[in-house]
Amino acid sequence: MKRILVTSALPYANGPIHLGHLAGAYLPADVYVRYQRMKKRDVLYICGTDEHGVPIAIAAEKQSITPQQLVDRYYADHLDTFTRFGMSFDNFSRTSRPLHHKTSQAFFQNLYNKNVLVERTVQQFYCDTCRRFLADRFVEGICPRCQQPGARGDQCEKCGSSLEQTELIKPYCKVCGHPPVLKDTRHLFFKLGDFQSRLETWLAEKKNWKENVLNYCRGWFKEGLGERAVTRDLKWGIPAPAAGYEDKMIYVWFEAPIGYISATKEWAERIGQPDKWKEYWMDSRTKLVHFIGKDNIVFHAIIWPAMIMAHGDLILPADIPANEFLNLQGEKLSTSRNYAVWLGEYLDKFPPDPLRYYLAAIAPESKDADFTWTEFQQRNNSELADILGNFINRTLTFAKRQFNGVPAAGELNDLDRAMIRVLEKAPVEIGDLFERYELRRGLTALMDVARFANKYFNDQQPWATLKTDRSRCATTINLCLHAVQTLAILMEPVLPFSAEKTWAMLGHTGSVHQQSWDEAGSLTLKPGHRLGQEQILFNKIEDKQIQPEIDRLAAASKNQPPTVAAAETPAEPAKISYDDFSRVQLRLALVLKAEKVEKADKLLRLEIQVGDEKRQIVAGIAKHYAPEQLIGKTIVVVANLQPAKIRGLESNGMLLAAEDETGQLAVLTPDRPVQCGAKVK
Ligand code: 2FM
Ligand code: ZN
Repeated sequence: MKRILVTSALPYANGPIHLGHLAGAYLPADVYVRYQRMKKRDVLYICGTDEHGVPIAIAAEKQSITPQQLVDRYYADHLDTFTRFGMSFDNFSRTSRPLHHKTSQAFFQNLYNKNVLVERTVQQFYCDTCRRFLADRFVEGICPRCQQPGARGDQCEKCGSSLEQTELIKPYCKVCGHPPVLKDTRHLFFKLGDFQSRLETWLAEKKNWKENVLNYCRGWFKEGLGERAVTRDLKWGIPAPAAGYEDKMIYVWFEAPIGYISATKEWAERIGQPDKWKEYWMDSRTKLVHFIGKDNIVFHAIIWPAMIMAHGDLILPADIPANEFLNLQGEKLSTSRNYAVWLGEYLDKFPPDPLRYYLAAIAPESKDADFTWTEFQQRNNSELADILGNFINRTLTFAKRQFNGVPAAGELNDLDRAMIRVLEKAPVEIGDLFERYELRRGLTALMDVARFANKYFNDQQPWATLKTDRSRCATTINLCLHAVQTLAILMEPVLPFSAEKTWAMLGHTGSVHQQSWDEAGSLTLKPGHRLGQEQILFNKIEDKQIQPEIDRLAAASKNQPPTVAAAETPAEPAKISYDDFSRVQLRLALVLKAEKVEKADKLLRLEIQVGDEKRQIVAGIAKHYAPEQLIGKTIVVVANLQPAKIRGLESNGMLLAAEDETGQLAVLTPDRPVQCGAKVK
């Protein structure tokens, strides 16, 4: 491999960046890139905003501004928050730039000329009120798979099914709420199916790829790939360059990945070598790595490679490390309900490194992960502050006060040699893990070095040997200072700001980012070297700093997703069939035990008996009932609700309660004795 090109999924410029974005496609890529730079490899890191498509058109329309105004706002916002978070893109571009339009149209034309884009007439929803075709998310309705209302024309967020808009039950226009009609329209379709066997052969060789990606692709192959529409009836986007299609736009998912190429071109122009982008896109010795969240797998692992195959002159991705999702306090993140932690707001209150650390430590590598403010606080306090920060600060303070700099090492004992071995091995071990995108294990290995060093300090008792054996004390401190130096370099990918501070505290000039990873474990500090100014590395985070965040999320968790154009929606609440109703299993349950949930003033934990079965449920009724009022009561529960984690507690069911407009709440109970477990119909 001669060089590495790394991309992170281009975020839509229709809302601010939140923690879910970071954990999936951004932080893991930034760690990887920072590591590769210190390995002295030729690595280029590309990203930018995805500025076309229906969600952006809708968001702009709702705010009564133009799509361009909307994306200008969020481009600036993303660039600012990413920079404050320490993302080290070589170029952060945007898809509304002319260079991207030109590059996408040329790509499109290339495929069109090769006859892999073909014309089809299809039926599509049209809104008579808004006088337009309703592309993708412009239409919503009830999901035909899970019956969830508010499913979008291309996908149901609830069950994840990808949908054809004509499958929606009771469809309505997202903007005006009226039911649409079906009309004929023409589109160009990409003959994806023609590439299926090449894709299968190509993917079969990817033995080291993450299982989630391969499995997902196998599923798609099994279904058969077929054809995909690559034009849209929209006003906002990149005009399709084909005769008769002048008023249609290129589908956003066709042009967005081409944004990786345009952003590389833009970078090459900026550094004054306009052809240099070709080295990254046309030389098979380049390793192309796309970091994405799992919702983007099909686009990056199937459609985009097929587009590249059709195009002919470009390299294919060498790896696609897709991450799973990040949940928040036990619940799915939801931007429409404001159930999210926004990066900009976080950075107004806390420094970036503790968040980078915690998100890397819980990275959703093989399964969904859960961010909780309490664990964030705890890992900051007990790991960053108490272990890493404490070791660095105690070493530097001691060395400065007692030796006025780096003392010379004397004779080595067994413990010293063990410490040296740990420092030598660490770059190799942690490097191997970062090379394989294993952030979690890489971070554990890093903290193990700090733990070992802390223990070494304690066991060697330099404060005692200072008086009894000054040379021994000097050896200990010399090695501890080397451990600080090793840690400074190895923590750089995850904790760049703290690494830089540590580097300065060691009295070094220049930047830690320029150091060599492979040399990180070498004993290079010269005796007599003067140390720099001490600074606090990690502050403890107090309860009172995180409580407002916890409370805000708890309140947001109750928000209903905004229903579309609610006021104007002519449709009354959708009627459901008896079959729909009978999918909900309501049962009587006896409350065996009830207690308050610690640090959650609205929650009660109940142990209930449903027929023969004992279960635990967590209910938000603590403001209305004291625990003892519920014990012995027979209540009604939804027995077949998916179990959920609430504040770390499993809730296996939901009790029914009625709440009126004044906020008065009553738990439902039967009005005469019936056996517990009985069905409610
Ligand atoms: O899911 C998303 O946020 C998309 N905007 C990602 C695009 S990635 C790429 F193809 F540009
Ligand atoms: Zn409409």
